[in-house]
Amino acid sequence: MSEIVATAPAKLILCGEHAVVYGRPAIALPLPGIRARVRLSPGPPGSGVVVQARDLRRRWNLADEPASPLSELIAGTLAQLGQPGAPLPDLRISIRSAIPIASGMGSGAAVASALVRALAAYLGRPLDAATLSALVYASERRFHGTPSGIDNTVIAYQRPIWFVRAESPHPPTPAPQLPQIETITIARPLALLVGDTGVRSATRAPVGEVRERWQASPARYEALFDQVGALVLAARGCLAQGQVAELGRLLTQNHALLQQIGVSSPELDALVAAALGAGALGAKLSGAGWGGVMLALVAPARQSAVARALEAAGARRVIPTTVHAHAPA
Ligand code: PMV
Repeated sequence: MSEIVATAPAKLILCGEHAVVYGRPAIALPLPGIRARVRLSPGPPGSGVVVQARDLRRRWNLADEPASPLSELIAGTLAQLGQPGAPLPDLRISIRSAIPIASGMGSGAAVASALVRALAAYLGRPLDAATLSALVYASERRFHGTPSGIDNTVIAYQRPIWFVRAESPHPPTPAPQLPQIETITIARPLALLVGDTGVRSATRAPVGEVRERWQASPARYEALFDQVGALVLAARGCLAQGQVAELGRLLTQNHALLQQIGVSSPELDALVAAALGAGALGAKLSGAGWGGVMLALVAPARQSAVARALEAAGARRVIPTTVHAHAPA
């Protein structure tokens, strides 16, 4: 066996997070320049599967930690795509990722996607995006509660998507059902700045808190989710028409709704305010919230001024990214 390398991109939710868990649409974008990478190489005979995750500073043998999320994903993928009953191969799996962990950029789903792609290539079973997405989603469902599936979908398809989940989150649908996934038109390139608060926050906590609030005040939360859904529909129109300034206003409105939903934080609010103060067209938190990243939509001429303002307001890292014009095939 020669060495196999597979990668997967980070992602950003442009608008619609949280409401997407409750059946409203969301728009997500891949970030092709920031990736997770998995390298497979043969291990010494009898070694079994040894995983090295350098960013987590961890190395383990699958047989010693069968219940860890990545071990289960590896064993499950080998069982599903390999020969029935085949023993575990002797493999070294090295995982590296440039995606900040627990920050709303899809690091977990990207590592899982790169891993499944690498294993599929090793087994001679290249996967289409839908199968890859389903395998990663099954793993996310086990370890992250009730994910909508948007992360694994945008990362597997590697295209800007409109996403509506098919299943009911509460009570969870027993078996995964197919979401509505559409490739969207982006008429004009978008210049974005991603500002990282440096506060790590696992998706599960804010998602669980929103569920409790929704259960306690369903009418209020359904109304907030409806407003987010309407705004995401309008944002799709702006993307298709190249109405970048109006898109910016919608993103800022989405942030205000996310504040009301209860998932912003002082650090996120400070970065959003700094970006808007420095002339961004719009800004909002992105992902699950309480920490992680925010995004600012900027006119290219304001990009460096907004980046400086984000740094001055405490951003640990500012990542400029361009979303290229895109027409569905
Ligand atoms: O994984 P994150 O932080 O990008 O958050 C995912 C987006 C949510 O809508 C909050 C949850 C979900 O499963 O869609």
